[in-house]
Amino acid sequence: MTSKREPIHGQWSGRLAFILAATGSAVGLGNIWKFPYITGENGGGAFVLVYLACIAIIGIPIMMAEVMLGRRGRRSPINTMRFLLVEEQASPHWQWLGWTGVIAGFLILSYYSVIAGWALAYVFRTGSGMLTGLTADGVQSIFDDLVGDPERLLAWHTLFMIMTMTVVARGVRSGLEQAVRFMMPTLFALLLLLVGYAWNSGYFEQGMNFMFHTDFSKISTNGVLTAMGHAFFTLSLGMGAIMVYGSYLPDRVSIAKVSIVVALMDTLVALLAGMAIFPIVFANGLEPGSGPGLIFQTLPIAFGHMPYGALFGMLFFLLLVFAAWTSSISLIEPAVAWLVENHGMTRVFAAMLAGSVTWLLGLLTVFSFNNWSEVKLLSAIPVFRDSTIFDLLDYLTANIMLPLGGLLVAVFAARTMSRESSVEELNMGDRFFYPLWRFLTRYITPVAVVIVFLHATGILIVFLRAIGIL
Ligand code: TRP
Repeated sequence: MTSKREPIHGQWSGRLAFILAATGSAVGLGNIWKFPYITGENGGGAFVLVYLACIAIIGIPIMMAEVMLGRRGRRSPINTMRFLLVEEQASPHWQWLGWTGVIAGFLILSYYSVIAGWALAYVFRTGSGMLTGLTADGVQSIFDDLVGDPERLLAWHTLFMIMTMTVVARGVRSGLEQAVRFMMPTLFALLLLLVGYAWNSGYFEQGMNFMFHTDFSKISTNGVLTAMGHAFFTLSLGMGAIMVYGSYLPDRVSIAKVSIVVALMDTLVALLAGMAIFPIVFANGLEPGSGPGLIFQTLPIAFGHMPYGALFGMLFFLLLVFAAWTSSISLIEPAVAWLVENHGMTRVFAAMLAGSVTWLLGLLTVFSFNNWSEVKLLSAIPVFRDSTIFDLLDYLTANIMLPLGGLLVAVFAARTMSRESSVEELNMGDRFFYPLWRFLTRYITPVAVVIVFLHATGILIVFLRAIGIL
């Protein structure tokens, strides 16, 4: 058995702190901004079902695997993989897994921060009463004004990056942990308030029907990939964020329990967001498939018509900013931890460096919504015909890099790593749950990811036709 490595960046104070931090990472724009709009774009019920299935059979086992690898390695994902591959006598190529994670983190944060900037802008727009009593058209034109102006987007993006780097610079205990402790419950309460409003809109049933009535003819092959990619995205899997948080997890905490709690909370928040948004969409004759602006074009209508709406609206967008904030720090933490470990930088300097790189990359997204909205780099490929640079970044990271990263984590944790190591680290007895985890990660997860990839590229269909099944 290996001797235990000590964490060098500090540790969570206990199980609750990890749950809060990991939930803080998982719950973010993915739940409240992205989940509703991609559900809308992909036709509703069938998409939601595929997404839920992916959370259960792919997401939870991979989350456990990531936390486990992180806690065993006790370093940034790059160095964790280096340690573990030596210990498990695996190929040195496994260290690439840490690297691609760091790159994915930069790419995701670059656009994540721009969208979080929209939420920041909306704190002031709702709070000032600018959106009070407007019609759907009025709300729409305020949104168009914002995203059409690159200077404003840049200013908000810059502010959000500064906020992110400030917390990251302060380190695990004082920075990350404090940031998540007080805002999760409030966010929850406000979402419930919005669901209450939607309930009374007269269109609740229609909204629920859209989300939960499963009609598989409405989901495309690419929609299935998007649903799976989103399961990774929303649980923060496939790039090392959960791995690095796992590396700060105290030894005796049960990895299975904390992973399940985090996944459940994350899913609940996404479903509540959908239940709040779709009734409002239908009540106002809006289009569920209208894209990334969806929540910014719907929720202000609700706030604009409820008593104390300006106050609640401001509070809601403030909490959305906080939710995004606790996620963004986890996107950059693997890179910062590595810079500190390998280059002897202070956390402050490492955070500034990583933040500057991300900020620069963010310009691609800033311009995707205005000056470069007609730049369609891959228009020759049918699925990407209308994709802006932002769309491509999102597709590359969420639909390709994260599932691929998650697949490799599963393979390493359940195949390359010895059974003794994972039994010891997961520590959940030898009876039922460990074999279940091992079976899922060895067989189900990798096969499911590969099938979805083959499905999305059309190879699966060609193959099934060739062997006469279709
Ligand atoms: N899960 C977050 C959200 O839903 C985003 C996020 C944070 C993330 N860290 C991540 C996504 C790591 C992928 C990988 O908003």
